[in-house]
Amino acid sequence: MSEKIKAPYYITTPIYYPSANLHIGHTYCTVNTDALARYKRLTGHEVYFLTGADEHGQKIERKAEEAGVTPQQFVDDIVKGFHALWELMDISHDGFVRTTDDYHIACVQKVFKKLYDKGDIYKSSYKGMYCTPCESFWTETQLKESGGVCPDCGRPVEEVEEESYFLNVSKYAPRLIEYINENPDFIQPPSRAKEMLNNFLLPGLEDLCVSRSTFKWGVPVDFDDKHVIYVWFDAVLNYLSKLGYLADNDELFKKFWPASVHVVGKEIIRFHTIVWPIMLMALDLPLPKQVYGHGWLVLDGRKMGKSVGNVVDPVALVGRYGVDAIRYFLLSEFQFGIDGNFNNEILITRINSDLANDLGNLLSRTVAMIEKYFGGEVPEAKVYVSEEDDTIIPVASALHERVEAAMNAVHPNEALAEIFRLIRLCNKYIDVTAPWVLAKDESKRDRLGTVLYNLAECMRIVGVCLQPFLTRTAPRIFEQLGISGNEALTGFESIERFGLLPAGTKVVKGEALFPRIDIKKELEYLESLMPKTEEKQEEKKAENAEKAEKSEKSEKGEKSGKDEKSAREKPEADGEKLTEISYDDFAKLDLRLAKVVACEEVPKSKKLLKFTLDLGGEERTVLSGIKNWFGTNDLIGKTVVVVANLAPRTMAGIESHGMILCASDAGDVHLSPLTTMSEMESGLKVR
Ligand code: MSP
Repeated sequence: MSEKIKAPYYITTPIYYPSANLHIGHTYCTVNTDALARYKRLTGHEVYFLTGADEHGQKIERKAEEAGVTPQQFVDDIVKGFHALWELMDISHDGFVRTTDDYHIACVQKVFKKLYDKGDIYKSSYKGMYCTPCESFWTETQLKESGGVCPDCGRPVEEVEEESYFLNVSKYAPRLIEYINENPDFIQPPSRAKEMLNNFLLPGLEDLCVSRSTFKWGVPVDFDDKHVIYVWFDAVLNYLSKLGYLADNDELFKKFWPASVHVVGKEIIRFHTIVWPIMLMALDLPLPKQVYGHGWLVLDGRKMGKSVGNVVDPVALVGRYGVDAIRYFLLSEFQFGIDGNFNNEILITRINSDLANDLGNLLSRTVAMIEKYFGGEVPEAKVYVSEEDDTIIPVASALHERVEAAMNAVHPNEALAEIFRLIRLCNKYIDVTAPWVLAKDESKRDRLGTVLYNLAECMRIVGVCLQPFLTRTAPRIFEQLGISGNEALTGFESIERFGLLPAGTKVVKGEALFPRIDIKKELEYLESLMPKTEEKQEEKKAENAEKAEKSEKSEKGEKSGKDEKSAREKPEADGEKLTEISYDDFAKLDLRLAKVVACEEVPKSKKLLKFTLDLGGEERTVLSGIKNWFGTNDLIGKTVVVVANLAPRTMAGIESHGMILCASDAGDVHLSPLTTMSEMESGLKVR
């Protein structure tokens, strides 16, 4: 076992904009970063894994204005959804930074002042073309190449003129070019380093405008309150502020800086490998050891994005297939450095063939045969047959080195491919050794025992390696192998030698790790979740109908649409004023218990399910937008609470009469219809 002291490991994701709920693309980045962090912890490093929210800037200010709330209220609400999503995905971050947190604001202001005092930030005036959604200025040359639209997102840019502060980027550019050339690991994959040098650094950099005076939602320049600090200057400093840089307690900073790796999407590698290193040089701080630019998940050839509207919702997928199936897909299917196409068929096939068949069957066959032939106790390995055993033992023995190499190269997908290679070889080994044939011949009993020992030991090694990836499944493998909680058999160092699993260990057969799924049915389901123009129109219609209903109400002197929105959509927002109502108002609601008799899909709708409800003798059709959380069979026979006197409304061509009451958390990660604690008759009044 190695006694080497391992270096602290500091890994970060980008801090995401809380302009809308996060989608599968953000989840892809965070899950991969999580696997890297978990792996480093497993291999004995002290790890700090940071993620967070990038909350300032004009885009957020405008969104908040549209929503009729303050920017702070707006981001607070969305950031709750970030936390819920990361909890759902088993993300093991050590810190979550918000750029509206006091310590962050203080750090950004101190850095700005420090660089101003040093002369690296100076005041001048600027006119340029700006993309607000990306918070980026673009030069004429860049715009020429992109046909006049933002080269990152393809949307129109606008001319902005301001008196601003500038960062003296040109002063540091030669040093940065030298640094990139001398440190080939700094920008990964290597193609991105070439891109940065050839497209940006070598043609010459203009000084960067690092303040804005046309809007307010940002960190104020504390010595010139007309200006707020440019959101990217503010954002990248999260990597230092959370560690306590320039604060009273900077222990984390001393321990973890420089970062081991900043994991970022390829579109923001420019900020991380040009602007950020120059800021660090100006601060006399060491540069991060690596910036890894991962590829995008694309849908129909376009980057999935909140503003393009072609997003896949991770919450719905996890609700349907479980965390580990989705983690596995995001970790294994796409080569981390390049773009990958999101595809439903591959998702389902992967779950069935890799997880249910290859992994699930291997474990269940191994445990079942040990139970059947050896009373559930792992037998001893006594009879070695090289041409058979050498197909798996050397692979299992070398697995830790291969996984280590792949993870150090920031290629979680390759690490998983190595693990699954062993799994497939083990399945083949079962076919070749045919334990059921050996079992028929008493003279082959020791060979049978050896085969099963080798399989159980391989399964242990697989379980150990899977821990950073399949957070729920690895412990279940250990449980079935009877080694749960035994650090000596589940720690990473325990797989440096093949054969540590003691004979006599009691295995326990458990449930299938991954039930097989019906491809056809699931593809239909997944198709219905995919964004389509036609569906969007249906949804728009429903939205419009809702809007019409609201304005009708306000015309009739009922609650204003805005109040109703706050009361209905944001009950959890702290300090929010809810409209008070009298008992008489409440009594207008006819709430009833109803039993779900039938449920079916609504053609062309990705949100709605059509329910047939029994309200105590009266049958009702009620549409409910809960398809992301429930299948058509999930609520049959359950009692729900219905607003029975809601005026009928037509959605997706079907008349819905009533509304099923549900509770949900921020970001709608968890959602549950309300029900009763004991069996109650349908039709009863709720009051
Ligand atoms: N706030 C900035 C980052 C500041 S870091 C100091 C930002 N935020 S973002 O919300 O737009 O998130 C961008 C990141 O999310 C990407 O760099 C990438 O890691 C991830 N992804 C967003 N869409 C994605 C895909 N379609 N595919 C893969 N990753 C995606 O930029």
